Amino acid sequence: MAIVDELSALRTSTLAAIEQAADTSALEEVRVAVLGKAGTLTGYLRGMGQVAKEERAAVGKAVNEVRGAVEAALEERKRALAAKELEAAIDAAAVDVTLPGRGQQVGTRHLINAITDQISEIFLGLGYTVAQGPEVETDYYNFEALNAPADHPSRSMQDTFYVVDRSGEESAVRGESKVLLRTQTSGVQVHVMEQQKPPIYIIAPGKVYRRDVADPSHLPQFTQIEGLVVDKGISFGDLKGTLDYFCKQMFGPDRKTRFRAHYFPFTEPSAEADVSCGVCGGTGHLHDGERCRMCKGTGWLEILGCGMVDPNVLSMSGIDPEEYSGFAFGVGVERVACLKYNVPDLRMLLEGDMRFLRQF
Ligand code: DAH
Repeated sequence: MAIVDELSALRTSTLAAIEQAADTSALEEVRVAVLGKAGTLTGYLRGMGQVAKEERAAVGKAVNEVRGAVEAALEERKRALAAKELEAAIDAAAVDVTLPGRGQQVGTRHLINAITDQISEIFLGLGYTVAQGPEVETDYYNFEALNAPADHPSRSMQDTFYVVDRSGEESAVRGESKVLLRTQTSGVQVHVMEQQKPPIYIIAPGKVYRRDVADPSHLPQFTQIEGLVVDKGISFGDLKGTLDYFCKQMFGPDRKTRFRAHYFPFTEPSAEADVSCGVCGGTGHLHDGERCRMCKGTGWLEILGCGMVDPNVLSMSGIDPEEYSGFAFGVGVERVACLKYNVPDLRMLLEGDMRFLRQF
């Protein structure tokens, strides 16, 4: 084949290879194979010396022409591929703004905390302060200083979790440890009275523990708010007025309270307070005459325990019962939450189900 024809074939195959190069690096390979130092076209240029004189001008012209065509095609393909690659890179990095957003979920306060704060606010508004005590407590503060010494029958009202006492102290009560998880916040009363002279107006919110199996109305861990007032001339009338005010603030101005005689070792007299049922309006039955299930037809819901601080409790904590008197109360926070929002099962408060928790 004549050189000029070879060049023409080279031109055709090179232009085809350029057109087929899928990316810039494939294109570079084509360039090197044709125009590189050892490239095919470069070979023809180098070999010009061996070409017969009369052909040289034509061959030179053909080589230059092929080189021009190849270079132009390389340039054009390079630009096209670069643009395509840039577009692909942009596509890969792009954010699809039409996708639905993931939405930040803002947490809510847990109902137990919200109710604890609401109750606290009511008493803070009356000038009370907040006191705290330990959850791991000694038998003395949880029972003994509250007028319930060992073997006192009232202890069986609350089934206790005992903690293994590694402090080295002996003498456990009936073979049990003297350290326990507090069954009530009432022990905070004693801590406060030991440290503070009257007048005392405190509330003490906190967790308490009892050996109960969780069911709709019991939890092995729950929250109480203790209240204690010690001052000169405090009477049962002060107790009733204060707790009636509290119930109206908490549940609404149309709610009534009543006080039923009860027994607690640390108060005398003792009472349980009921608030009128919000579901049936205190009547015990619904509009269609059906018995109200919330209050079991009684029209009343039990809400807290209370009483006048027993003089023994005052004197054990170093306060003269001849000079001072006081009242105390204990409210179950979970119970208040359930009564306020008609929650049928205490366990719902602890399950962490967002569909339930978000309602409040
Ligand atoms: N500690 C009692 C309980 O857990 C509640 C209670 C009743 C607290 C009467 C008091 C009180 O301060 O005076 O059942």
